[in-house]
Amino acid sequence: MEKQQEEIIALTEQFVADLFQNDASGHDWWHIHRVRNLAKQMAAEEPGPVNAFVCEMAALLHDVPDDKLVKNAAEGEKRLMDWLNQFSLPKEIQEQILFIVLNLSYKGGTNKVQLDSIEGMLVQDADRLDAIGAIGIARTMAFSGSRGRLIHDPSKKPRESMSYEEYRSGDDTAIMHFYEKLLKLKDTMNTQTGKVFAQRRHEYMETFLEEFYLEWDGLR
Ligand code: ADP
Ligand code: NI
Repeated sequence: MEKQQEEIIALTEQFVADLFQNDASGHDWWHIHRVRNLAKQMAAEEPGPVNAFVCEMAALLHDVPDDKLVKNAAEGEKRLMDWLNQFSLPKEIQEQILFIVLNLSYKGGTNKVQLDSIEGMLVQDADRLDAIGAIGIARTMAFSGSRGRLIHDPSKKPRESMSYEEYRSGDDTAIMHFYEKLLKLKDTMNTQTGKVFAQRRHEYMETFLEEFYLEWDGLR
């Protein structure tokens, strides 16, 4: 990577670290840190070429237009543009980063564009990997707690499908979230390495759930 690109990444890292410093709903800086590392790690395994700069920038910026930080899609896009515009990057590089971040962020929402670049697929896989496994369990519990939700309610059944609004504002328990989203993520991985990384994490969640139900009634 060129020196100038490395400098842009360092500045972007600082920008994002400041932005996410105090988030207790699962979007803290360490989530971004992991998504970036996972994306880099998986990029190294790709048989074809990967633009490392686009991949790392998109990973760092991927949660900037999140609805917890900005009011709407337009504001999220503006925030990203304002940040990227100061660097006079080649137009197509800037557009690639923007496209990945904007289409990754509004999952379940109106935005259902398929990410077709390898960089986009890698960042999407990385973000999904960080939602599963031991980290995924911890983030789900933290997110549920931040919304004042229960860990579990045996009378409640997970919903098979729901709108983005329901998903965000519903009164789901943390355990319901596993069935509504987390256990499905393994089969949505784009890349071969993503699938491999997801498998171990998926099995860990299944083991966790088994143990959780064993302990639930306090009988053993
Ligand atoms: P990201 O943008 O990083 O993919 P989200 O904003 O969708 O993640 O969610 C942040 C974290 O909170 C994730 O670990 C996610 O699984 C969890 N989460 C999101 N929605 C719910 C929910 N309805 N119940 C419990 N946890 C949730
Ligand atoms: Ni994320």
